Amino acid sequence: MKRKWNVFVTRMLPEPAINYLKAYCEVEINPEDRVLSKAELLAAVKGRDAVLSQLTDIIDDAVFAAAGPQCKVFANYAVGYNNVDLEAAARRGVMITNTPDVLTDATADLAWTLLFATARRVVEADDFLRKGKYQGWGPMLLLGVEITGKTLGVIGTGRIGQNFASKAKAFSMKVLYNDIHRNLDFEKTTGAVYADKETLLRESDFVSLHVPLLPATRHLIGAPEFYIMKNTAILINTSRGPVVNEQELVAALKSGQIWGAGLDVFENEPELTPGLAELTNVVILPHVASATVETRINMGLVAARNIVAAMQGEVPPNLVNR
Ligand code: DGY
Repeated sequence: MKRKWNVFVTRMLPEPAINYLKAYCEVEINPEDRVLSKAELLAAVKGRDAVLSQLTDIIDDAVFAAAGPQCKVFANYAVGYNNVDLEAAARRGVMITNTPDVLTDATADLAWTLLFATARRVVEADDFLRKGKYQGWGPMLLLGVEITGKTLGVIGTGRIGQNFASKAKAFSMKVLYNDIHRNLDFEKTTGAVYADKETLLRESDFVSLHVPLLPATRHLIGAPEFYIMKNTAILINTSRGPVVNEQELVAALKSGQIWGAGLDVFENEPELTPGLAELTNVVILPHVASATVETRINMGLVAARNIVAAMQGEVPPNLVNR
């Protein structure tokens, strides 16, 4: 019988995940529903065998050092792991895991939610009604952008980008995609057409971002890209905030360089670039793409299973730094 691991969970998670973890490990959870300060995190991880971390925790060498050499796994409660220093983890022999697959539908669905909400001015219309401004049907009232039959540009066709693109069929859309490689299977199953970034930006009515945050994708979209896009185009971002130059986005939205944007992520989360929240042609959500009850439970179970697998001497199923 292996010794039970001592695991720290940096933020409260749905109960089934915690219960699963508790069946195998000694578990301590951050008692407050907030991000721990760096000092608190360093103190909390000390002596643990594993840590279940959030995308809001910066997991760097100092955190691995504070945890100690017995600490074998940081299971990140997210598919993205740009908050983790993978090189430091490798140097210290710490396994890093993520939670892919279980959040693919929820995240792709929220990208669609943003696309519809922005194109059809849903938030603005709701606000208009609640403020008592509605005087009855009008031929020019809150006109939006047609969706069916338009061209959708998808940048980044990993699991979420592909899932998002596959749902365009329901709206008879032409799909263009851009990624570092062509994906012939994806082309075959969805009818998507590979395009270089410039062509995609020039021809798309909607551009949706699904790339991980890497040095090569930081500010992938900024003033030069807005210049190429149609004045009627809408940008959707459910990936990571720094993929878009947010200051330049505010300028493009203000000047009418593009028609609108739907954002779930921000460059300096939770701060917003000044001016963004005042714009009516942007729909902004507080990073909730994976926030469904089912998905958040499953993300917790995936993270917990990764820790338990490592404790039992197995390779965790979602190891990202093999
Ligand atoms: C992720 O998993 O990376 C999302 O941003 C949050 O679920």
